[in-house]
Amino acid sequence: MILPVYTYGEKILEKPSEIVDLNDPTLPELISNMFDTMRNANGIGLAAPQIGINKRIIVVETKFLSSSNEEILFKEVFINPKIISYSDYKITTIEGCLSFPELQLSINRPLFIDVEWYNENKVYQCKLLSGLVSIILQHEIDHLNGVLFIDKISQEEKNKFLHDLKKIKQKKVKSKYLII
Ligand code: CO
Repeated sequence: MILPVYTYGEKILEKPSEIVDLNDPTLPELISNMFDTMRNANGIGLAAPQIGINKRIIVVETKFLSSSNEEILFKEVFINPKIISYSDYKITTIEGCLSFPELQLSINRPLFIDVEWYNENKVYQCKLLSGLVSIILQHEIDHLNGVLFIDKISQEEKNKFLHDLKKIKQKKVKSKYLII
């Protein structure tokens, strides 16, 4: 089921989310709704608080090119994800966020992260993630901590976007998907 996306100004986006009980019977439906909502909005990552659910769950689905130029699909559910370590090496990329329709920001983040999480089958995972997937996951884990991508830029940089942010807060922004 496609659900509306909570946008900037909604209090749930600024609150840390709660640890998920792996035996929570509502998880399969929640995960399915998160994929539906993300795909409908053409997103590549979504955190549960973005659909108004205060739980530490993330879905990611994106395609990227391997070093041999093959298209690879990365699709994963991250339950209770935790970043164990970050690389010193950082990279700046252009990020968007479904909770900020139309806004794009240049954000600097570590290129590699070691992450542990439980997948949708409740199986423990621990992996080194890199590149686009690493950046997406850092952005989404920030959501679980109530941190937004505008919190990652300087006040000076943020001042350039005050007008856009005000428009989003007042819900006067165009979006191709349903927003709250
Ligand atoms: Co986001």
